[in-house]
Amino acid sequence: MDYLQIEGGKKLSGTVEISGAKNAALPLIASTILSKNVVNISNIPNVKDIRTLLNLLNILGANFWYEKNRAKIDTSFITSTTAVYDIVRTMRASILVLGPLLARFGHCEVSLPGGCAIGQRPIDLHLKALSLMGAEIEIKNGYVLTKAKKALKGTHIIFDKITVTGTENIVMAAALAKGTTTIVNAAKEPEVIQLCEVLKKSGVDIEGIGTDELKIVGTDRELLNFEDFSVIPDRIEAGTYLCAGAITNSKITIKKCDPNHMDAILTKFTQMGFDLKIKDNEITILPAKKIYPIEIITSEYPGFPTDMQAQFMALSLKADGTSIIEERLFENRFMHVSELMRFGANIHLKGNIATINGPCKLYGADVMATDLRASSALVLAGLTAKGTTKVHRIYHLDRGYENLEKKLKNLGASIERLKE
Ligand code: UD1
Repeated sequence: MDYLQIEGGKKLSGTVEISGAKNAALPLIASTILSKNVVNISNIPNVKDIRTLLNLLNILGANFWYEKNRAKIDTSFITSTTAVYDIVRTMRASILVLGPLLARFGHCEVSLPGGCAIGQRPIDLHLKALSLMGAEIEIKNGYVLTKAKKALKGTHIIFDKITVTGTENIVMAAALAKGTTTIVNAAKEPEVIQLCEVLKKSGVDIEGIGTDELKIVGTDRELLNFEDFSVIPDRIEAGTYLCAGAITNSKITIKKCDPNHMDAILTKFTQMGFDLKIKDNEITILPAKKIYPIEIITSEYPGFPTDMQAQFMALSLKADGTSIIEERLFENRFMHVSELMRFGANIHLKGNIATINGPCKLYGADVMATDLRASSALVLAGLTAKGTTKVHRIYHLDRGYENLEKKLKNLGASIERLKE
């Protein structure tokens, strides 16, 4: 197993290019199940989760070619509609094949994703919406078995909670349904917006893109004609590198990002005392004279993303005063707290609220990655801690950060990938 060894305390400098967004690429790749032509996608991040989904499509019978952040996917030969346990257990987002498979083939069998390190993460809202669209749903032997005798039918869906992959699944199902589907309380993350835009260009009439009410006119199982497209930049990766600049109080520039998707994140840097220079597709962060404590409440887009919570917790360890972070989306997304304490962090946890008393003197330590974003918080702490840090179980990081140690090394960090 690999681990990362970091010598902390180095200033960073220079530029780093942001990769395509994993969370946009995943639904987009799943949506190729709805296509009648070969689909060309560029700016795909080369990370484990993407390879897992391509592998799943391949098991279903699709062909793909994938190199240098580009993929060509041909789903015309899909013969199986079963997303097997061995794949789904390694990546919950495999659930994204549920909507498109059911819509195209009229049935599918997807292993039910279990809970994960950050919470229970049920898929009840995906299933309720599909059943309103006419699907018969049964849970058997750990699988969700879905069947729609005729084409799925357009209907009115109100999500009780805002769900990102839930919205994406239903948008994809609705694209091939008979009639019009409206989704009320839809997610409006940039990743959901890109999926809707790509489907719209492929011939599906979608109104309300970017709002919380979507209206999708289905094609009654007529497959779509996809145009080539490029995946949007990863706003979470971008935010993580800005945190790396901030935590080492260095000047760095991130390129190929989309500042328009990062309002809530950028505002927090400014509130903490960091100056930002923002151009079209790049952001420079400048050192702060004093790092101010912060209050964060995670919420759905355009609010502050839960996927940046752990990184800002690491950063708040450097702030002069007490920061408060409230996690509202996932009940157990504080696994990084006990690992951050191994560096010397002073954090009190009560329910879903963490109180961070800064500034903390941080010393390098052996720490364990527990989930994707928690892992990056540990790397950030390691960059500023005195001495050597070893971050173990970095397979979590490899799920979502492309060339993390290479990018950090280019910025001047002392970081190596080693074998246990
Ligand atoms: C997606 C992102 C993940 C991010 C999260 C929240 C992908 C691949 N993953 O995850 O990185 O952290 O959005 O921004 O895009 N819920 C239910 N029932 C459901 C579905 C969701 O109760 O059927 C709850 C969840 O447990 C959670 C909340 O709704 O408390 C939001 O979850 P959701 O938006 O669905 O997260 P994901 O789509 O799984």
